[in-house]
Amino acid sequence: MSSPTQGDRRHGHTQAGQGASPAAPLAFPADFRWGAATAAYQVEGATNEDGRGPSIWDTFCRTPGKVLGGDTGDVAVDHYHRFREDVALMAELGLNAYRFSVSWPRVQPSGSGPLNQAGVDFYRRLVDALLEAGIEPWPTLYHWDLPQALEDAGGWPERDTAYRFADYAALIHRELGDRVAHWMTINEPWCAAFLGYASGEHAPGRREPAASLRAAHHLMLGHGEAVRAMRARHPEHRLGAAVNLYAISPASQAEADLDAARRVDGMQNRLFLDPLLRGRYPEDVLADLDHLGFASTILDGDTEVINQPIDQLGVNYYSRFTVTGDPNVTAQAVSSPYSTVSPWVGSEHVGFVDGGRPVTGMGWEIDETGLHEVLTRLHREYPPVDLYITENGAGYDEVPNGDTPIQDEERIQYLDAHLRASHQAITGGVPLRGYFTWSLLDNFEWSWGYSKRFGLVHVDYTTQRRVPKDSARWYAGVIRAGGLPERE
Ligand code: FCB
Repeated sequence: MSSPTQGDRRHGHTQAGQGASPAAPLAFPADFRWGAATAAYQVEGATNEDGRGPSIWDTFCRTPGKVLGGDTGDVAVDHYHRFREDVALMAELGLNAYRFSVSWPRVQPSGSGPLNQAGVDFYRRLVDALLEAGIEPWPTLYHWDLPQALEDAGGWPERDTAYRFADYAALIHRELGDRVAHWMTINEPWCAAFLGYASGEHAPGRREPAASLRAAHHLMLGHGEAVRAMRARHPEHRLGAAVNLYAISPASQAEADLDAARRVDGMQNRLFLDPLLRGRYPEDVLADLDHLGFASTILDGDTEVINQPIDQLGVNYYSRFTVTGDPNVTAQAVSSPYSTVSPWVGSEHVGFVDGGRPVTGMGWEIDETGLHEVLTRLHREYPPVDLYITENGAGYDEVPNGDTPIQDEERIQYLDAHLRASHQAITGGVPLRGYFTWSLLDNFEWSWGYSKRFGLVHVDYTTQRRVPKDSARWYAGVIRAGGLPERE
C-alpha cells in the first residue's frame, strides 16, 4: 500500500508446528468461513481479452516511475485462464470461501451502458467452479480498478461516479445473484480515495487533497446506493463493505500525541465507520477537514443512503500505527501507508514513529493485539453487525531455493498470532464469522509490482507454476482441525 521506498526490518520467530492437532483446543465456530482473498487486477491478467476496457491501473502502470520495475497487471498470475487450477488449489487447502473481486472494466468496459457478456461469463464460470468445489463465492465489486472512461470524466471526486457504480453493481448482481449470496461493495475506500487522489501513490495518481475527500464521500455514497439496489432484488442476500482499519496508539500521553492519535483514528477509521454504521460523519473529523471544504460535498440525505442497513462488515487488518503530534518529529520514521498521506489531508502535524515491534517484509509492524483491539472496539462502540476479517497477511521478498517449497515460517507465525487474536475476540463475544487471508497466491502488489509476495501459494511469474508454501500446508491443517492448538 505504501510506496516502495522504506526499509526492511525482518524478525525471527521460533518454529511453529506445521499443523493443528485434530481436537483443536482453540476451536472456531463450526460455521466459520475459512477463506483466502485476491483482487481482479492483482491476479487475472488478460487485460486485453474478451472486450475488457482499460482501467485506471492499466494507465497508471504505464506511467513511468509509478510502479516498481515498471511492472503491470497485463499478465499478473494469469488467473483468468488458470482459475480452474486455482479453485483446485483452494479445495486442496480446504477453504470453504473465496473472496475475489469483479473487474468493473471487464464486465462494463467504459463504466456505463450494457454489460460485456464475455466478461460476465468469466465470473459465471469462476462462480460455478467454486460452487462445484463446495467453496462459497465472496465477490467484492470494487477493488480499485475504475474504468478509465470514468476517470476521464473526473473519477471518484465526481458525484456521478457513485451512481455509475451503483448501476454496475445492480447489473452484475442481477447476473450472479442466483448463485452468490455474500457481496462486498467497495474495498478499502481509504486507499482508493487517499492513495489514489491525495498522495498519488496509487492510480489514478492525483495529488489533490480536496478532491480526495470528495472521492472518499462518493465511494461511500456508491456503496450505499449499491446496497439499496441489490437489497431491492434479493433482500435475503448478505451485503456489506470492506474497510482497512488500524489500531492507533499515541506515542505518549502528552496532549499533542493524544490529539494526533485522535486525528489519525478519525481519518483512518471513523471517517468510514461512522457514516456506514451510525449514519453521520464524526464532528471532530469534519472540523479537521473544514479548510478543505469537505462538508460542502455532503448533500442532504447522503448519510442516510450510506447508512443502509448492512449484514456484514469486512475488516482488513495489517498493523498498528504509533503517532505523535510533536512538531519536532519531522522524519517519517516508519513505513505506514498513512504516513505518506497525512501531509495531504487533515493531519499535517502528525508524525509516525517506530512502535518498536518486529516488521514484515513490507516494513509494517506486526501487532496482533491491534486486531483484537479493532474487533472489540467495533463490537463495543458500533451497532451490531457480523464481522469478517476480509484481509490479513504478511508480505515478504521470497526467493525460492530450487524445488523446495518456500519455508515461510514468518508468515505462519503472523497468521497464527492473528488467528489467536481472532479467537480471543470471539471468546469475548465479538460476532466474528470468518477469516480470509491475504492472499491465496503471490500477485501484483500495486505500486510494489511483483516485488512483494503475500501468497500462501508461491507463483513463478515466468512459468506461472503454483507451489504451495509451508504456510499453505499449515493453514490447511488449521482448517482441518477447525482451530489452533494451545501454544507450546
Ligand atoms: C490491501 C489491499 C490488497 C493488498 C493488501 C496487501 O490494502 O486491499 O489488495 O494489496 O493490502
